[in-house]
Parts: sequence; structure tokens; C-alpha cells
Amino acid sequence: MKNAWVLAGILVIAMCALTPKGGAQQKEKKDAAGHEWFNHAVFYEIYPRSFADSNGDGVGDLRGITSKLDYLQHLGVGAIWITPCFPSPQVDFGYDVSDYEAIDPMYGTLADFDELVTKAKAHNIKIILDFVPNHTSDQHKWFLESKSSKTNPKRDWYFWRDGKPNGQPPNNWTSTFGGSTWTLDPTTGQYYYHYFYAQQPDLNWRNPEVRKAMLDCMRFWYKRGVAGFRLDAVDTLFEDPDLKDNPLLPGLDKFGFPNEHEIYNKKLPEVHDVMRDMRKLADEYNAVLIGETWTANVSELRDYYGEKNDELQMPMDLMLTQFPKLSAPLFREHITALEDAGGWPVFVISNHDIVRSYTRWGDGKNNDQIAKMAATMYMLLRGTPIMYYGEEIGMENNDPKRREDVQDPQGRRGWPKEIGRDGERTPMQWSDGPNAGFTTGKPWLPVAPNFKTHNVATEGADPNSILNLYRKIIALRSSEPALREGKYIELNGGDQNVLAFARQDVGGNSVIVALNMSASAQSVKLDGKVAAPSARTTILVAVGVKASEDRNLTLQPYGVYVAKVDSRLR
Ligand code: NOJ
Repeated sequence: MKNAWVLAGILVIAMCALTPKGGAQQKEKKDAAGHEWFNHAVFYEIYPRSFADSNGDGVGDLRGITSKLDYLQHLGVGAIWITPCFPSPQVDFGYDVSDYEAIDPMYGTLADFDELVTKAKAHNIKIILDFVPNHTSDQHKWFLESKSSKTNPKRDWYFWRDGKPNGQPPNNWTSTFGGSTWTLDPTTGQYYYHYFYAQQPDLNWRNPEVRKAMLDCMRFWYKRGVAGFRLDAVDTLFEDPDLKDNPLLPGLDKFGFPNEHEIYNKKLPEVHDVMRDMRKLADEYNAVLIGETWTANVSELRDYYGEKNDELQMPMDLMLTQFPKLSAPLFREHITALEDAGGWPVFVISNHDIVRSYTRWGDGKNNDQIAKMAATMYMLLRGTPIMYYGEEIGMENNDPKRREDVQDPQGRRGWPKEIGRDGERTPMQWSDGPNAGFTTGKPWLPVAPNFKTHNVATEGADPNSILNLYRKIIALRSSEPALREGKYIELNGGDQNVLAFARQDVGGNSVIVALNMSASAQSVKLDGKVAAPSARTTILVAVGVKASEDRNLTLQPYGVYVAKVDSRLR
């Protein structure tokens, strides 16, 4: 009897040790290559205002997202990143957070959030929230306290400084949203600093209380079951305490202010200390951190993984979003640089701040084919793709035509040079019915004109649609070992029009991908680094393929060819 009690005790202790911390994700096994779930999942960004409206108020909400989980699962999505859904005055549509530990009533309640987490889990979908560490809303209680007097205990939670003796702002730093980064607050006669809008005052990350308070907010959501965060604007967390002027560059920005080299208020080395702290916390919950990491080259991107891989697991490569046109040599060069850098790439081709890829890369004639080609590229490269809602149906930008129609303050301020980001944030196109099936009310932004043909219902029924191509390609990412883990092998290095590569697994099995990035038919002779496609090859995807025989392939404009070559068949 005594032994039975001892045994029971041991079992309880063992179970406690194995049970994940409150809300923590179950530690999933790494695969043979040492990779984790987020290396293989497809991530899907949801702009909650625009995804699905469950209550007819014209703005999307959490219940709307929950109602679309079957759709997301069928698409093959493994994680959704929801842009900020916390209480907010919505000056920057949620990126001005006034309470980090609640849900904005416009989007629902905490109970709705918990339901979403539970139901998503049943669909094998993880939830990633958007964390905004750089700034709060000016309506956050911390800022209201901070601004109330120079001696308020929270004064140092933000960045307050006296103006120059002539009353001008403390230095020449300009906001990325136009104008000075400094706003004079009459209550105390001091200026506060804001890298973005004046309604988004920057937190002072040098203050340990701020650090603790913000990490506690992250913990709050980890405990509720989130699998990680996308970290907003990490580059701007620190400022030079001496407030040195930034050197000026030639020309003016879109808002008419001098261009600056932002060396004193961007990418300061202290950013990495915070990333490491956040990572330590994430590791307690087996969570993943995705970074909004704007960089100009791959070596700069590398820094965000951390010298000991102890910072972000997924710094986003946002460089593809800046490629003005499709060009096989340009993409090849970039991919080679990523491969040489050695990290696990994270590909993004569109998001809520950038003109949609369908519009950006479309030529007006072959847009659907181009969308399929781009999808195949970034889904089948070695790395993790982060899609933007609607990309899978070829949603286009619907830019405002008149200043008075603009919702994004950036567009109102910068019109007409800067038209803002409304165009890429329009309602998801679910059907060809009223408001594209997004809402029964009046949508907060007008639906894009192509919704009649480009919507989930219509494309779902068409085997050749962009949507069904995405479904197919995403499924291949898990079913083909070479696409999961295989190394990248460049094929046809000198080709000016066709980007061709292979992914090859340890057993030598390859998947060959050839993408015509030009508007004319191209014949390709695949070079001999991997076994040639042959009669024994399985063609996995062929769109716009005129002929394929041995190493010779003819691709129509923007044609796509994906084939599996089994090493045992050589
Ligand atoms: C980056 C976000 O993606 C953007 O939408 C926002 O306006 C800024 N950060 C400020 O938070």
C-alpha cells in the first residue's frame, strides 16, 4: 500500500514536469534536421478589420475569423498572425494600443478570443498576435499618467525632453509618418518623442519598469495560449540619449521633409538586448517570435537571429516586397545570398503596409499567371512563407482616388504623393455577392473591383484558379520530403528569364521548380546538377507548360513547372 502511494507521488511529479506551463504550447518534437513546426508551417496574416464581419457593422471581428477556420485549414495554413486587435483609438488602425491585455470591443471579447484559440487548435492552426513594443497609444493609461506632471512616477516611461532655447523641437529627427518626431505637450511644456504619429508616443525601453511591464503583457497572452508574436517596428525601440541630429541626405521625403540617415534613432545595438529578453520568455512557452525587420541586405537581416540564435526565430525578409519587377537574375541573386547566410528564410511578398503583389508584379495581361508563378516560388523555396489574406485569390489593390475617401492618416497627410495603405487593406473577397460576402453592413473600405471573378466561392469551384494552385502547392510542402527539408540547388544560373532550382533531400530525391519570369515563351535546357526530368518523372504542377522532354522545357509567359525526380529511378 505504502509503495502504491510512493508510486502515485512519483507519477504526479513526473506529470507536472511534463505538462506545459499554463498556456504554453506543447513542445513539439524537432524533426531529423533539427527543425521545428514553424519552419514548415505556412503563416497567414489577417487584418482583422477586413477579414470577416460576423455582426454586420462593416468591420471584421474575431468571431468572423473563427467562422473561417475550415477555409484556412483547407488552404493548408498552420498559423494565423492577427494584426493588433487590442483596445485602441484606431488612429493607426490598432497599432496605437491603449490596453495590451484586452480585446477591442469592435473585435469582440476575451471570451471570443479564447474560443478562437480553442477552435483554431482543433483545426491545427496556431494563433500569433501582433505585439507593438515601440509605442503605445497616447490614450494608454501609462501615457496619460506620464504626461500629467514632470514628477509623475511614469514620467520616464516615455521620452520627454525640453525644446531648444528658441522653442524648436529638441533635434532634427523626422517621423516616418511625416513631420517632426517631437510634439510639444502644453501640460508640462516639454516635448515627447514619437517615431510614428503623435498619437503613438515611444516607450522608453531603457527604463527597467517598462521592460518588465511589457514582458508581462506578453506573458498574459502566452498564458491564454498564443503560439508567438509578430513584433512591430523593433528597429525603433531605442534612441540616442544625447539626441544627436541625424545627418541629412539629399532630397525630401513624401511629406516634404528633408531625408535623413536615421543613425541616432534606428537600429541601435540595445535593440538586441530586448530581443534576447523576449526570446527567453518565448522559450518558456515554446513560442515563436517573428520580426518586422526591414533591411536592405541579407547580412543586415542575419543580425536578428542573434549571434547565438537567441533572438528572433523568424526575422521577416521583407526585401522581396521592394523588388520593383520580376526578374530571374534579381531573384536568383537574392536567394543565393539567403542560402549563403545560412539562416532559415522567412518570405513575405505582401502585407498591410505594401501594395499587394498581384498589383505590384501584375502586367495587366498575365496577372493571374504571375500570381501563380510568384506563389510557387515563395512557397517552394527553402524557408517559411507568410501569406497576406487574399493573396491566395489574387486580390488586387483598390487605392482611393480622392483625398476625402482616404482612411489611413498617412494618406491624408501625404496626399497625393503618399496615398496611404487603404488599397491593400480592403475586405476579403468571399463571394461574388453583395460586399463580396464580407459583411451584411457597409464595409469600412470599398471592396476591390475584381471581386466578381476573384473570390473564394468562384475560385474554389475552378480547378485552375489561383486558390486551387495555392492549395496544391501548400500541400506539396508537407507531402514532399525534398520540399520540407531539401537543400536548395540553383539550376540554370545564367538564364535571364527563367528561375530554375531544385530542392533535394538527403536521399538524393529532388523536386525541380522552373518559373518563367518573363512575358514571352521561353525554352529552357535544365543544366545537369540533378537527374533530368524524364518519362519516369512525376509532374506535380504544370501551368503554362508547352512541352517538357528530358532536360528541355518550354514555358509559356510566366509558366510554372514543378516535377519530382526520384533518385531510385535514375
Ligand atoms: C508597422 C506596421 O506594420 C504598420 O502598419 C504601423 O503603422 C507601424 N508599424 C507603426 O506601428
